[in-house]
Amino acid sequence: MRDPRRVGVLISGRGSNLRALVEQAKGYEIALVASNKPQAPGLDWAREQGLSTWTWDSKGVEKEEFDRTLSAALDDHRIGTVALAGFMRILSPWFIDQWRGRILNIHPSLLPKYRGLDTHARAIEAGDRVSGCSVHVVTEVLDAGEVLGQAEVAIESGDTPATLENRVLAAEHELYPRILREFVRR
Ligand code: GRF
Repeated sequence: MRDPRRVGVLISGRGSNLRALVEQAKGYEIALVASNKPQAPGLDWAREQGLSTWTWDSKGVEKEEFDRTLSAALDDHRIGTVALAGFMRILSPWFIDQWRGRILNIHPSLLPKYRGLDTHARAIEAGDRVSGCSVHVVTEVLDAGEVLGQAEVAIESGDTPATLENRVLAAEHELYPRILREFVRR
């Protein structure tokens, strides 16, 4: 039985959002950390915390085969909500259908602005005065599902993509656990 309060976090890299989700877990539990990159630093951290982990190197693996195996692992852990946190792989329509309405993502822009990559450079380049981050429901269309919450971050003169990223990340770490907590209740 899928339990919405049992959250599976999908990562590919450093896992700072994973860490925020774990450290601020209230109303939900991180019941599995899964990665398509066995070397992801976030996985090491998860293991150190004693969290359950799952990994399979997705390189060269057929997309749906990977996603079916991942989905089975999530079900083994009775996951009911999937939180993407720097998961750098587009999920198959099969997976999205299986978990319809139960997958969230954190994106470093004020959606619908700047879907995809390099959001901070694009915001600075455009001369925006404000950027931020969004938590949204994942659908088949990249970064386009219902937005559940956003946090704004001012862009300062002299900001580089790296300095802006740091401040937006801090906002992500506050936003994601809060929105996830609200989401698992609905
Ligand atoms: C964050 O910028 C997040 O918004 C994006 O990927 C990055 C993940 O960073 N989806 P981390 O692995 O959580 O530190």
